[in-house]
Amino acid sequence: MTSGPWTLLDGIGVLVTNDPDIGVGRLGLLRDAALLLGDGVVQWVGSSGREPHADNVFRLDLDGRTVLPGFVDSHTHPVFAGDRAEEFASRMAGQPYTAGGIRSTIAATRAATDAELNATATRLVTEARRSGTTTIECKSGYGQTVADELRSLRLAAAHTPETTLLAAHVTPPEFDGRTDDYVRMVIEEMIPACAPHAKWIDVFCERGAFDADQCRAVLSAGVAAGMVPRVHGNQLGPGEGVRIAVETGAASVDHVTHTSADDIAALADSTTVATLLPGAEFSTRETYPNSRRLLDSGVTVAVATDCNPGTSYTTSMPLCIALAVREMHMSPDEAVWSATAGGAHALRRNDIGVLRPGCRADVIALDAPSHVHLAYRPGVHLVSHVWKDGIRL
Ligand code: NIG
Ligand code: FE
Repeated sequence: MTSGPWTLLDGIGVLVTNDPDIGVGRLGLLRDAALLLGDGVVQWVGSSGREPHADNVFRLDLDGRTVLPGFVDSHTHPVFAGDRAEEFASRMAGQPYTAGGIRSTIAATRAATDAELNATATRLVTEARRSGTTTIECKSGYGQTVADELRSLRLAAAHTPETTLLAAHVTPPEFDGRTDDYVRMVIEEMIPACAPHAKWIDVFCERGAFDADQCRAVLSAGVAAGMVPRVHGNQLGPGEGVRIAVETGAASVDHVTHTSADDIAALADSTTVATLLPGAEFSTRETYPNSRRLLDSGVTVAVATDCNPGTSYTTSMPLCIALAVREMHMSPDEAVWSATAGGAHALRRNDIGVLRPGCRADVIALDAPSHVHLAYRPGVHLVSHVWKDGIRL
């Protein structure tokens, strides 16, 4: 537990708590509010002027700003080397995205030094923090050898406890035409070596990546080794990703761009979150998923960046909120919930994404009169303050 001086945030114009028992609606909105942070957690939430007396409290007047839980980015790939700007440019000139591009990042990542990989990951995590992300999930997946996946996870672990072994991302070149042999190596060697360093096990279930049986085999080996599943599924076309995620009790299935009525019904009846990644559709110029079908069916929806060099080279949760609203037809309230509490659900965390006493003091302030401005003012840096564990960054 991080300790430090307590801080009273006062003069909050709009406070998003995400706790309907504290404020109005699903976002638990309070106006003219104050928030007391201390010993790494939220100590008290309520109306301005009603705070309990405490000694040695630093008081900060937020002058009518909006305050909300820090963003929870539940899907990123920040450990890589190289650049795929040319691939992006050719997509913008009409080329389709294929999973094959991942291999060029694998080659660059394998050739990079630890220091180079660490510099990129640190730069991206720092960028994310500045735009309000206080919890970030980080995947491996650009090594695809035991040693390279291990070092990616070690580097990721310096930034977050939410580390993911993306063991089955793409068949690496040395296993060309022998995907089953690669899967065997993943199960027999990579998973046992990497499991102590990863909380999550992930697979890319897609034509051109791994099929349903291969994904099931990797996920069940991961579970046996103590990791919890999450799935990249139904991104490039319809497929079995959603079904496998629900079947294996995955915390989240991510992308879900192409879903059937059965997929949606299965998700609605499960504890698996659907994580939407609008940066990927933006950067691949693909059709955005229909978030209304998911939300109106009662599926829990998260929004994340998918930060990676191929399909979504952004760390900006505010951009993803704006895209989720404008392009995926989420309401601003839904998008803000999904980028905070939704991400927490996708990481099975009940101590973040909500501002209630006892939760982590991961808090951001916006230079704006409401959270709606995150979508209403796209591309504008509105995040004025970030606290992680109660400490101002
Ligand atoms: O989440 N879908 C698979 N993985 C990444 C893309 C990786 C890449 O193209 O490098 C994604 O979009
Ligand atoms: Fe991804």
